[in-house]
Amino acid sequence: MVSYLIFFTLTVVTVLVVFKIILVGSIVGAFPVTQGAMFHPTARIRLKTALDYVPMAKGDLLVDIGCGDGRVLLAAARRYGACAIGYEINPLAYILARMRTWGKKEIQVKYANFWREHLGRADVVFCYLFPDVMGKLAEKFSRELRPGTRIISCNFPLPHWQAVKVLYPPSSLYGDPIYIYQVSPPAGTKASGM
Ligand SMILES: C[S@@+](CC[C@H](N)C(=O)[O-])C[C@H]1O[C@@H](n2cnc3c(N)ncnc32)[C@H](O)[C@@H]1O
Repeated sequence: MVSYLIFFTLTVVTVLVVFKIILVGSIVGAFPVTQGAMFHPTARIRLKTALDYVPMAKGDLLVDIGCGDGRVLLAAARRYGACAIGYEINPLAYILARMRTWGKKEIQVKYANFWREHLGRADVVFCYLFPDVMGKLAEKFSRELRPGTRIISCNFPLPHWQAVKVLYPPSSLYGDPIYIYQVSPPAGTKASGM
């Protein structure tokens, strides 16, 4: 019995250590592309707060640029019947996202650098990245997103953009701001609601 317990404990510890090594390796390997936006999944309460405020119609397209383990894609599909595309460059996160969304026809997870993808089809863009890239991201959004497209940016604002709302999840641990934006329609036309 004791030897079984020791064997079991050693196996669990080994698996955890190997997982940690792979996790750190994949983060370090992806660093030149991610520029500091490491794999760090959004907490459930934060995701709920964001999606409460940004309803989607069935079939709307949510794009998560840096989709991590795919939880945002899954939540949008489950809650609103949305279609979802996630781009991910960290191999471990990509595999987790593929596993998590396996068999869901409305969700696509692509192993790709989102900077090389055009985001023009998105109805909603979700991002949880890093301050260093937010200026460049704002320029990409201005070039590619259609008027009316909504943007959910976790933790970090888009410089020089006016948020329509800043959400603070009701949590002492996960209460960092979530910025909501909507791409302006051309001058002279009316903005739609959230
Ligand atoms: C903070 S995590 C957020 C994950 C997920 N969006 C969530 O909220 O749970 C940021 C993710 O973006 C990915 N990422 C950063 N830059 C990327 C890029 N240029 N192309 C694709 N993925 C990128 C990272 O690998 C990381 O998994």
